[in-house]
Amino acid sequence: MSTEPAARPGVAVTVNGAARALVGAQPPVTALDWLRGLGLTGAKEGCAEGECGACAILLARPAPDASPAAPTAWTAINACLVPAAALAGQEVVTAEGLGAPDALHPVQRELAVRGGSQCGYCTPGFVCSMAAEFYRPGRGAFDHHALSGNLCRCTGYRPIIEAAEALVAPAADDPLAARTTAPPPSAPAHALPGWVRPGSLTEALARLGEPGAVAVAGSTDLGVEANLRGARPDLLVAIDRLDELRVLTVADEVVEIGAALTLSEVEARLAGRIPLLDAVFPQFASRLIRNGATFGGNLGTGSPIGDLLPALLALDADVVLVGPAGERTVPLTAFFTGYRRSVRQPGELIARVRIPLPLATTTAFHKIAKRRFDDISSVAVAFALDIVDGVVRGAAIGLGGVAATPIRATAAEHALAGAAWTPAGIAPAAAALAAAGTPLDDHRASASYRRAMLGQALPRLLAEQPGGRAS
Ligand SMILES: Cc1cc2nc3c(=O)[nH]c(=O)nc-3n(C[C@H](O)[C@H](O)[C@H](O)COP(=O)(O)OP(=O)(O)OC[C@H]3O[C@@H](n4cnc5c(N)ncnc54)[C@H](O)[C@@H]3O)c2cc1C
Ligand code: FES
Ligand code: FES
Repeated sequence: MSTEPAARPGVAVTVNGAARALVGAQPPVTALDWLRGLGLTGAKEGCAEGECGACAILLARPAPDASPAAPTAWTAINACLVPAAALAGQEVVTAEGLGAPDALHPVQRELAVRGGSQCGYCTPGFVCSMAAEFYRPGRGAFDHHALSGNLCRCTGYRPIIEAAEALVAPAADDPLAARTTAPPPSAPAHALPGWVRPGSLTEALARLGEPGAVAVAGSTDLGVEANLRGARPDLLVAIDRLDELRVLTVADEVVEIGAALTLSEVEARLAGRIPLLDAVFPQFASRLIRNGATFGGNLGTGSPIGDLLPALLALDADVVLVGPAGERTVPLTAFFTGYRRSVRQPGELIARVRIPLPLATTTAFHKIAKRRFDDISSVAVAFALDIVDGVVRGAAIGLGGVAATPIRATAAEHALAGAAWTPAGIAPAAAALAAAGTPLDDHRASASYRRAMLGQALPRLLAEQPGGRAS
């Protein structure tokens, strides 16, 4: 007879195929700690801040591209950042659920035979990230970026990459592959002490009106606040699965992106329609983080180094806010009022962003960071220029990391208007860009370095264009 506690309706989790009662899961308990408490100790805590991937697990989530043929995707996430309460009603697979020593999963087998594991601390996390890519419908070549959030301190990455590249398609009778063709689990309304998943936007707004209530979406920012800085909100209100916040529409004059869509979902659903965002996605954290991080969360942090913000400024986006009194639309240029402050009132949510069409002809995103990938910006510059017959007819430039808020480089934009798209023509605008903002010295970069990066951004963009030549 099973010794498992009976699963209560609405708060059970399917872990490696078995229903487990979600007991002892109130915040600040993380999904990682809760799973490890079940004895599933494959997933590890390496950093507790989303940087190492040792905690990666798989969740059955709505497929990023919302494909009717394969509506569910095995999605790898950082279990150290996500509240355990968010697992209610979900299906979780850990490295233990993929295979066993006498029946290894193909990913585990390839890692083992190719020497992709030494101390093994990182291995369960690599296994889960690799398995998510293994099960990606229509996968051709293995996408190396699927592993960008996983660190290994001893094996070296060559055998790990060789293992990934040796993978073939899942077997015809693979149960996890079959699972992708059925609908994903819904996210049932439920509550635990300090946590609520409302059943509707109306209920979410009502709960957010309570003292100490904080909205949580992917928890990639709040999870770090909880783990490293001891943040303990009185009530977390989960908004990540509210249908009203998960709509993406493309019309003749505007693209609307729901605030609770993750970066991975927006990337898949836009399918290249907004090249400037496509330039941002691979430079934003790792696939593990992008599978959780939402558009609304990036705006909600109000961080001056949020990477979506310069891009959305250059795209001339509006923010649609929703509160108890209804919706209101604010230009993103008027959204931020100071360091991590905005016009959003307590109790209001970001519902979606609106990007007007048509798009500018020439766009680019320059992220200056200490590492090429998976790092926080020191400076970010997003360009959206209309260049017609060698003349700049319109310019919007968004900047991150050079002021207390993300800003538009208005002086440089004015200097570009009507300028020849040549080294001499852009020189005044490049000088204006070098003087934009009020960069500071901090642990990421000095103010003078930031100014230097701003000053070379336009010449670099010109050089990157076909036939372009820097001065
Ligand atoms: C390892 C790591 C790497 C990272 N790298 C990058 C990077 O390269 N670039 C970058 O820009 N960021 C990066 N981040 C920061 C973070 O991932 C992003 O800011 C992300 O978009 C936050 O989204 P979320 O859904 O996880 O937000 P959450 O953590 O759920 O929430 C963050 C804040 O936004 C609020 N919020 C969330 N949704 C809404 C909404 N709809 N309306 C109003 N408020 C809302 C919450 O109340 C909270 O205050 C990184 C984080 C980690 C841990
Ligand atoms: S423990 Fe390092 S990413 Fe979660
Ligand atoms: S095998 Fe030791 S950390 Fe990767």
